[in-house]
Amino acid sequence: MNQATPSAPSVFITGASSGLGRQMAIEFARRGYRLALTARRLDLLEALQAELLQAGAPKVFVAALDVTDEAAVTQVFGQACTALGRLDIVVANAGIGNHGRIGQLPLHRAHATIHTNVLGFMSTVEVALQHFRAQGRGQLVGISSVAAFRGLPGGGAYGASKAAVTNYLEALRAETRGSGIVITTLSPGFIDTPLNRGAKSRPFVIPVEQGGRLLVDLIERRVQTATVPAWPWALVARLLTVLPAAIVARMR
Ligand SMILES: NC(=O)c1ccc[n+]([C@@H]2O[C@H](COP(=O)([O-])OP(=O)(O)OC[C@H]3O[C@@H](n4cnc5c(N)ncnc54)[C@H](OP(=O)(O)O)[C@@H]3O)[C@@H](O)[C@H]2O)c1
Repeated sequence: MNQATPSAPSVFITGASSGLGRQMAIEFARRGYRLALTARRLDLLEALQAELLQAGAPKVFVAALDVTDEAAVTQVFGQACTALGRLDIVVANAGIGNHGRIGQLPLHRAHATIHTNVLGFMSTVEVALQHFRAQGRGQLVGISSVAAFRGLPGGGAYGASKAAVTNYLEALRAETRGSGIVITTLSPGFIDTPLNRGAKSRPFVIPVEQGGRLLVDLIERRVQTATVPAWPWALVARLLTVLPAAIVARMR
C-alpha cells in the first residue's frame, strides 16, 4: 500500500461491509486514501479495518450506520469528519436488491428497497452536500445501476429506486455546476457480489476485484456518469431505452 501523506485524500463509504463497498475500500486503501467505512454490520467493518491497517492503510475509521436512520447518518458523518478532519469523496453505495413482480414481491420488501436505496441515499447526499458546500469542494458518488435505464419485469422496485438515484444526481449536478463540487453517477452491470448471487442469470458478470478497480478508476477520473464496465453496458443501456415493449414484456 502507498504511504499516506498528512494531506492524503479521504473517502466516506456507505455499505462498506460487503461487495462493491468493501472492494472499493480495499482499492482506495491500496491507493493511499484515508477511509471512513460504514454499514450496519460493525463486526464485518472491524475485520476489514484490521485487514486494511495490517496491509498498511494510513487511517481507517469504522462505524455502524443504517442509512435509513436519518439522525444516525448526520451523527456518524460528523464523527467521521472529526476522525478524518476533512472528507474529499463520499460514496453513497449502500443498497439492497429485492426483486419480484409487482403484486408478487411482498409490499414491505418493495418499500424497504425504496427506503434504503432512495431515502437512505438521499440522507447520505444531504450530509455530504452540506460538508462539501462548507469546504467549497468535494466529490459525491452515487452507485446507481443499469437497471435505472428501463423498467423490466421482476425489477420494478429495484429499477425504480435506481432510476431515482440517477435522476436525483442529474438534478444535483445541474444545481452544483461551477461550485467545485463534482457529482459522479456510476451504473454497474453485473458484478459478482452477494446482492446478485441468487439471480437466475447474470449476463456479462465480472469479478468483484475488477469491479472495485474500475469503480475507483472512474471516481479518480471524476467522471460525471459511466456504466461499469463500459463495455458492453454503455451499449446495452442505450438499447434498453429503445427496445419495443413487446420484447421487454418477454424478458425475465
Ligand atoms: N453487484 C452488482 O452487480 C450491482 C449492480 C448494480 C448496482 N449495484 C449497487 O451497488 C451497491 C452495492 O451493492 P453490492 O452488490 O455490493 O451488494 P452487497 O454485497 O449486498 O452489499 C450491500 C451493502 O449495503 C449495505 N447496506 C444494505 N442496507 C443498508 C442500510 N440500511 N444501511 C447501511 N448499509 C446498508 C450492506 O451492509 P450491511 O448489511 O452491513 O448494512 C452492504 O455493505 C448497491 O447500491 C447496489 O444496488 C450493484
